[in-house]
Amino acid sequence: MKKLLAVSAALVALTVFAAPPKAKAPEAAPAAAKFTITGDPAKGQVKFKELCSACHGELGKGDGPASAALTPKPANFADAAHAASVTDEYIYNMIKEGGAANGKSAMMAPWKASLNEAQLMDVAAYVRSLSKSAAPAAAPAADKKAPTKK
Ligand code: HEC
Repeated sequence: MKKLLAVSAALVALTVFAAPPKAKAPEAAPAAAKFTITGDPAKGQVKFKELCSACHGELGKGDGPASAALTPKPANFADAAHAASVTDEYIYNMIKEGGAANGKSAMMAPWKASLNEAQLMDVAAYVRSLSKSAAPAAAPAADKKAPTKK
């Protein structure tokens, strides 16, 4: 009898501990969360001026003093059509890993050794902000409210 008790106790213990803590595994994460640049463009601007403007130009138009020597020339970050053609992930990776790692010009150096994650995000956010400022504060906003489909 004692033996039977011990066995059933062991069985109970087994069932309790063998039971998975949760009945259902959580649903698979929503299809690969899209990479988004989350930095602070104002902070990024400071670093950009310091590290990037020689080639990219202060406003990222690809016209910095050193750009004359570059082939290919850096893209114009203020060009909305170009900006729309590249992803946040590409922009971020170009800055972090450099041109060579992304099949582009090695003249675009990797910056991961000089900028930490937050700073990389900040400069990336500044790069992104340049194409968004295509409509300056002074631009008449009123008649742009209802965009017509073309
Ligand atoms: C020595 C010059 C030089 C410096 C300094 C430089 N870049 Fe570049 N960068 C380039 C060149 C050249 C390219 C174009 C590479 C190509 O298209 O093959 C480029 C490409 C890029 C791109 C990809 C743009 C696109 O839309 O294709 C980003 C983003 C970028 N640079 C950001 C930065 C940032 C941010 C810094 C400063 C932290 C920086 N670069 C510093 C030369 C430079």
